Amino acid sequence: MKIAAARESSPLESRVALTPDSVKKFVALGIQVSIESGAGLGSGIADDAYTAAGATVAASAAEAFANADIVVCVDTPAEDVLAHIPQGSILIGMLNPLDKLTDFSALNARSIHAYAMEFLPRISRAQSMDVLSSQSNLAGYRAVIEAVAATSKTIPMMMTAAGTIPPAKVLVLGVGVAGLQAIATAKRLGAVVSAFDVRAATKEQAESLGAKFIEVPAADNAETSGGYAKEMDDDYKRRQEEALAAVIKTQDIVITTALIPGKPAPELITKAMVASMKAGSVIVDLAAAAGGNCKLTKRDDAIQTENGVVLLGYTNLSSRAASDASPLYARNLFTFISTLMFDKTTKTLKILSDDELIKGTLVTKGGKTVHPALVA
Ligand SMILES: NC(=O)c1ccc[n+]([C@@H]2O[C@H](COP(=O)([O-])OP(=O)(O)OC[C@H]3O[C@@H](n4cnc5c(N)ncnc54)[C@H](O)[C@@H]3O)[C@@H](O)[C@H]2O)c1
Repeated sequence: MKIAAARESSPLESRVALTPDSVKKFVALGIQVSIESGAGLGSGIADDAYTAAGATVAASAAEAFANADIVVCVDTPAEDVLAHIPQGSILIGMLNPLDKLTDFSALNARSIHAYAMEFLPRISRAQSMDVLSSQSNLAGYRAVIEAVAATSKTIPMMMTAAGTIPPAKVLVLGVGVAGLQAIATAKRLGAVVSAFDVRAATKEQAESLGAKFIEVPAADNAETSGGYAKEMDDDYKRRQEEALAAVIKTQDIVITTALIPGKPAPELITKAMVASMKAGSVIVDLAAAAGGNCKLTKRDDAIQTENGVVLLGYTNLSSRAASDASPLYARNLFTFISTLMFDKTTKTLKILSDDELIKGTLVTKGGKTVHPALVA
């Protein structure tokens, strides 16, 4: 069995799907590994490290992919790279299946069996393969770091002979995996942190990290059985807007992470709220890829509003922490492949097709898009 990876196609992507650590583990199982030269550089991994781990370093994507059973990636490869993936082989990565711009026709034209790791069911057994958690956690951390770099406000309180500097105020909207890490990071830096989420269970989690929770009671349970947020009704949205408007104008940094699976991101920060904020305050919108939690967010851009608010719409925050994001991601993929796609006795490819983790992630097969969430 052979696994391969190429350099990522997007210039905004610094992560890599194989690391020397994951290569060693694959090689120990008797799996051959090939990687395109330079693929690890964005994550601080030189070709030599891959060679030392037992991989073959190839001069091109085409050479790396030759005879591969499985190609692993971070984001879907560009078409000129996809063209080298062997017909009928397997592609595993973050394929962005719910984005309306995602088009699987190039994968289907090559009959590629593609697995979108974002669809992995979030059951206990799958935790060590959960790429959304491993990457969102780092995105939450990085969002705070980007905000701190963009503000001239000092974060911790400082008492000096020349006077006292008050601590920065940080508001986190959406208390999932990314939001919890954003709260923890901002607290560690000494900020006064507030947080808001529609799911009642998040109050205790936010408070346990030292954040003040902004409560907007919901008439019904705002959480699905899968632990995700539901879309809220207009009455709730009005009350939420009032509560946030009162708090937001006093904040130095706002980190927004609110998402509803398969839907556009809820709009939590209106133009009027941005207009009420102080000059120099910073909003980092982690939901930018899903349309943004702030009305004014520009995807993958940093803008300054007329009243001097800096708005960061980076969609590659985990990639900005690539040296740590890649090892976690590569470990998630190793666990997925070694437990669900490999027969340790015969040392050959064997897919556990009936396993709910395989069924849950398979998006294309035999030239067709097959995932129930993607076929009408
Ligand atoms: N393996 C596992 O069991 C596992 C792993 C990770 C996460 N989870 C659970 O999955 C759930 C979702 O976590 P996630 O980080 O992937 O969520 P997510 O990325 O889908 O959303 C981020 C947060 O935004 C919140 N949100 C949505 N609409 C909002 C609104 N209008 N206003 C404010 N906040 C809003 C959500 O409630 C969520 O907390 C959580 O319950 C988490 O504990 C389970």
